[in-house]
Amino acid sequence: MNNSNQIRIFDTTLRDGEQSPGASMTSAEKLEVARQLARLGVNVIEAGFPAASPDDLEAVRRIATEVGNADGPIIAGLARCWRDDITKAWEGVREADHPRIHTFLATSDLHMERKLGMTREQVLSQIEHMVSYARSLCDDIEFSPEDASRSDADFLVEACKIAIEAGATTLNIPDTVGYSMPIEYGEMMADLIARTPGGKDVIWSAHCHDDLGCATANTLSAVQAGARQVEVTINGIGERAGNTPLEEVVMALHTRPKIYGLGCSIETTELARTSRLVSNYTGIYVPRNKAIIGQNAFAHEAGIHQDGMLKDQRTYEIMTPQTVGLSQSQLVLGKHSGKHALRIRLQELGFELDRDGVKDAFKRFKMLADKKKDITDADLQALAHQQEQAPSETFTITDLQISCGRPGMPTATVRLEGPNGDEFIQSDVGDGPVDATFSAMDQIVQAKNELLEYSVHSVTSGIDALGEVTVRIQAPDNSKSDKGRIFGGYGADTDITVASAKAYMAALNRMIAALGTKYSRGEGAPATINQTAS
Ligand code: KIV
Ligand code: ZN
Repeated sequence: MNNSNQIRIFDTTLRDGEQSPGASMTSAEKLEVARQLARLGVNVIEAGFPAASPDDLEAVRRIATEVGNADGPIIAGLARCWRDDITKAWEGVREADHPRIHTFLATSDLHMERKLGMTREQVLSQIEHMVSYARSLCDDIEFSPEDASRSDADFLVEACKIAIEAGATTLNIPDTVGYSMPIEYGEMMADLIARTPGGKDVIWSAHCHDDLGCATANTLSAVQAGARQVEVTINGIGERAGNTPLEEVVMALHTRPKIYGLGCSIETTELARTSRLVSNYTGIYVPRNKAIIGQNAFAHEAGIHQDGMLKDQRTYEIMTPQTVGLSQSQLVLGKHSGKHALRIRLQELGFELDRDGVKDAFKRFKMLADKKKDITDADLQALAHQQEQAPSETFTITDLQISCGRPGMPTATVRLEGPNGDEFIQSDVGDGPVDATFSAMDQIVQAKNELLEYSVHSVTSGIDALGEVTVRIQAPDNSKSDKGRIFGGYGADTDITVASAKAYMAALNRMIAALGTKYSRGEGAPATINQTAS
C-alpha cells in the first residue's frame, strides 16, 4: 500500500481546526463545510470528536448521514483510547457508507507520566484493548500515538506494532507540538515504516502542527519517506499555530510533479472557495500573504514584475490563479445586469443557489449595484458567502441609522427583528459609529460577550469598494461546558458600519445558537415595537 502513487487527503478542519480557539461553527455550518470538502474531493473528513459533547456527536452524525454516501468520502470520528469515547465515535460515524474510527493515545514519556499517569506497559495494553474494541465495531481503524515526535523511537515501534496487530489499518504519526524539523520527521516516518512489523500492510499518515513554521515541510518530507495519507486543514487552522494547510500540500504535489510524482483527488479549482467558506464561518481571517489563497498570492506590484508578467505570465507565476479557483476576470456585472446573468455568474463561481437564494442574492446585488458601478467576482463571492453563512435562528438587522462627526456624539439607532418576528429599536452613543452600533445591538440582544477582535479590509480597490469585516467575540466563562467559547462573524457592505453590524450580528447569532437559551433576552431588555405600541 505504501507504494501507491496516490496521496490520501484527510481533512481535519472540522476537528483539529474547529478545536482551535475562535473557530466554533454551528452544526449547520459544519454540514455546509463538509459538503464543500466533499466537492473539493478530500478522501477522509474527520467530522469531529463525538465524545466532546452531545452537539459534537450530533454534528458528526449529520455529516455521516448526509455527506458520507457510497461515492463520497470516508467519515472519521475521533476518540481517545477509552471505551466510552470509541462507542460514541462509532455512534457518530456508523451511518456513513465508509465510516472510520480514529483513536489516539500519547506515547511520549512526558505525556504518559505527567498527563496520563500511566506506565509504558499500561499504555501498550490500553492500545491493544481499545484498538481491538474499535475494530470489533468498524473495519476502518486509524491509530495515532500522540506526541509521536517526542516519543522514544523503539517504544513508538512497539506501540505501532501492537496497534496493527489489534486491527489498525492506518497509522498516523503526529508531531503534536510542532517540534520536529523536516529531515527528522521524514527519517522518523521512514524508520517506522521499515522497522514496524506489519508496517508494509498499512497506510502511514503525517499529522503536523506549525509551531515552528515547518508543518508543510514536515508533511512533504514524510510523503517522500513513504507516508500516503496527509492530515491537513483548510487555511491551516488548528490548535495554537495551526495544522498543515491542505492547499499548500496539494499545490506542492501539483506544481512539483518531478519531485513527488504523486497524485491526489483534489479538485484544485475549489480551493479558493473552500478557503473563503471556512474563513467566513470561523471568522479566522486569511493573511494577505498566505501561500496559495492569500489576497496577495497572485498580486504583482513591483514594476519589474508587472513588466515580466505582461510579457510572459510564467516569469513570476509558478501556478495560475485559475488553478486554485481564483478567477482572473475583474469586471463582470453592473447595474443593468439581470437575474439570469447573476445566476450564471454565481454558478461559474461555484455557488449553487436555489430559486429563493438567487432571488435574495439578486436583491443584494441590485442594492450593491446602486452604490458601486463595477461589480467584480470578488464582490459577488463576498455577497454569496454572506448569504450562505447567515444562521437561520435569531436576530436580523432591518435598519441602521448613524450620526457622527466632530464635534459630536457618535449615535447609532438600530432596528432588529427577533426570532418570533418581533421588532426592537434601540439607540446608543459610543466612542465611534461602530462602538455605538454594537452597544445598541447589545442592549436588544442581551447576549453578554467580550469583543476580542475587529478587523476591516476592502474586497476590491476604489472609493466604492466593498468592505469586509470580521469580528470575534467571547462568551463569558460562566459554566463548565461553555469555557468562554469564541465565536466569529463576517459581514460585507459598501458602508463599513453596516458591514460591522452584519459581522457582529452573525457572531451574536452563532453564539446564541451554540449556547442556547442562556443568552435569550433577559429582564431589562427594551420592549418590542409591538409591546411599546400597546
Ligand atoms: O496533534 C495531535 O496529536 C492530534 C491527535 C489527536 C491526532 O491531533
Ligand atoms: Zn493535531
